[in-house]
This record gives sequence, C-alpha cells and structure tokens, in this order.
Amino acid sequence: MNAGPVVVPPAERPSGCRAVPLLTEPSVGHYPEFRRFLVDTFGLDDRIGASGLLRLGDRAYELVFLGRSGQPFPSGVEIHALVPGLEPLDEDAADHDVWAILLWLTDGVDGEWSADTLATTGRVYRVPAAVEAAPTPVRETRGELLAFDLYGTLVDPLAIATELAGIVGPDDAERVAATWRRAQIDYAFRLTVMNRYQDFAEVTGRALDFALAEAGHPVDQDARGALLARYDALEPFPDAGPALRALADTGVEMVVLSNGSPAMAEACLRTSGLSAYFSRVVSVDAVRAYKPHPAVYRHLAEVTGRPVEAIRLVSCNPFDVVGAATAGMRTVWVDRSGTGFDTLGAPPELTVRALTDLPDLLASEHDGDITQR
Ligand code: LAC
Repeated sequence: MNAGPVVVPPAERPSGCRAVPLLTEPSVGHYPEFRRFLVDTFGLDDRIGASGLLRLGDRAYELVFLGRSGQPFPSGVEIHALVPGLEPLDEDAADHDVWAILLWLTDGVDGEWSADTLATTGRVYRVPAAVEAAPTPVRETRGELLAFDLYGTLVDPLAIATELAGIVGPDDAERVAATWRRAQIDYAFRLTVMNRYQDFAEVTGRALDFALAEAGHPVDQDARGALLARYDALEPFPDAGPALRALADTGVEMVVLSNGSPAMAEACLRTSGLSAYFSRVVSVDAVRAYKPHPAVYRHLAEVTGRPVEAIRLVSCNPFDVVGAATAGMRTVWVDRSGTGFDTLGAPPELTVRALTDLPDLLASEHDGDITQR
C-alpha cells in the first residue's frame, strides 16, 4: 500500500518527463470545499495558471487546474502522471496512486466527505486499488441474513395522512400522502439515474413541496417542518413487532436496508420501538445512490461480510424486490394491499400478506417443505 501523496514545490517538477492524463474532474466548481482545499494547498490565489505537483514514492503527478469563464478558479482538475523520457506508464502503480490521491483529497476536505465513504464506494465498484488498500474483513457467519426495507415495510409513511388532514383538509389528506410518497420514490430514482444524489431528508422535503403544490396548498414553513419531523416517528405496522419478535426467537440475524439517511432511519427505528431486533441499520447514503441501484445491495453484502446470495431482502416495494433479485439476493415481497407485482423483473421468491406469515414460511422452507411460492 502507498503512503499518501506529498506536495512538492513547482521548482521540483522533474525535467525530461512527459505528462500522461489519468483522470479529469470537470466540476470542482460545484464543490466549493474541494476548490478551497486545492486553492489553499497549492497557493492558487497567487499562482493562477500554475499546476500542482505531488509525489508518491519515486513517482510524480501533476494536477492541472482548469478554468471556465464566469466561475471561480479552478472549476476543474486533471491528474497527469509525469513519466520519465519515453518509459511506458506503469499502469498498476498509476491506478494505485490515483486512488491514493483521491483519498488524500477527500480526507483533506472538511464536511460530509470522508475517505471511508470513498473507500467503501471503491470496494462496492470493485476498484482494485480500493480493495487492496482496505480489504473488508469477511466475518464468520452462519445462516441467512434477513434485510428489511423500512418505509412501507416496517413503518407506515401513509399514516401521516392524519397530520396532513389538519393542513389540507380531510378530503385531500390521503391523496396528498400518497402523492408525497410517490414523488419521494420517483425523485430518488431520478437523482440516482442523473448521478446527483441528495440525501433522503432533502428528497422527502422536496417531494412534500410537490405534493402540497399539486393539491393547491401553499407551503407554510412551520407546518412543513412539523410534517417532516413526523418522518422520524412513523407508526410501525401492527404486524411488524410480533413478526420480528418471532424471527428473533429463531436466532436469525436481521438488519435494515433503507433509502433513509442514517439519522432518519435510526430515529425512525428508535421511536418505533423496533431497533432492538436489528444488528445494524444500513443506509444507501454510503454509496450515494438509491434503491434499486445494484451498488446498494452490494454495499449491504460488503458491510455485513455476506455473499449477496446469503441475504434475503424483505420489502413491500416491488422495485426493491426486483432490484435485490437483480443483484443476486433472495427475496420476500410483503403484499399488504393485495395488488399485483411488477411486470418487470423476476417475481418474488416468497410472497406474504403480512410479516407475521414470515416466520412459519421460512421455517417450512428450511425444513424442505417448499422452495418456491
Ligand atoms: C426504504 C424505502 C424504499 O426504506 O421505502 O428504503
């Protein structure tokens, strides 16, 4: 593993080298904290137009800063390897070094960025340098892991209709609650496709704004805040507690896998009284993509040290069930409302009308009574 990069003064740029472009990041300008770090580290306030030099062992890299008219400098950065004379680029070393430079950048920036998150993302996407730099310990585990979806599976987001009735009136409340939920999921899909992740609290707020506007209700900031706070205290479905208790008695390990940000999901589980049943709460936030992106399900396998095929996702959301199956997981669909399943993707392996059907169904499957339902 490489030690981190060392910043060297411009005068030490090795001579007789050619620059081989390795990576371009054109949107540094969107992330002011990254821009600030580069400006401070390389003194760019005084040296506009200069490049930055880094050394990793005996190899040198040049950061070429890009400008764009009307935007603060730099608005982008390229990383070049400085390769002596006509020698070929050592591609393996360059891959490792670029990874080390990205970790160094992420570590140097205060705020929501963290080198751990980058390393996790790198492992999820099987970036070789990330896997070698920080291998995930594979725990000794036995048996299947049950991963539960949170919103709509364990707790009921549509129950907020009760509070909404006080704001939009009883006639509109259920419709606005349903639109809110649909927009929340739709926004999460779209942000993922656009590669423009925003955390689930933000997405939930924007979806609420849409639902209220669509129903013709002005957004009052206090009422908005109170409705969003209710997301941290959603009622559990009546079958959730008894089902989890029965499953816990069988000794199976259970986790939550949610679109919710870590703070939202933890708060919701705490107030619902369900958190004690779960060994951990895994949020999509670490991979900055929403379900059903495969990275989400691979991330769960990665952090729990289980092969994907040893995890069974339990969800009421067909898109979640299909996404988990696509990533190689086993699946249970909770069909509370008796509606049809998606016509896109494989049908669920098991279907239950209530979570309380699950303990017996899994027990009979393990006894060999059924393999498919
Ligand atoms: C979740 C959403 C999909 O909890 O319900 O992940």
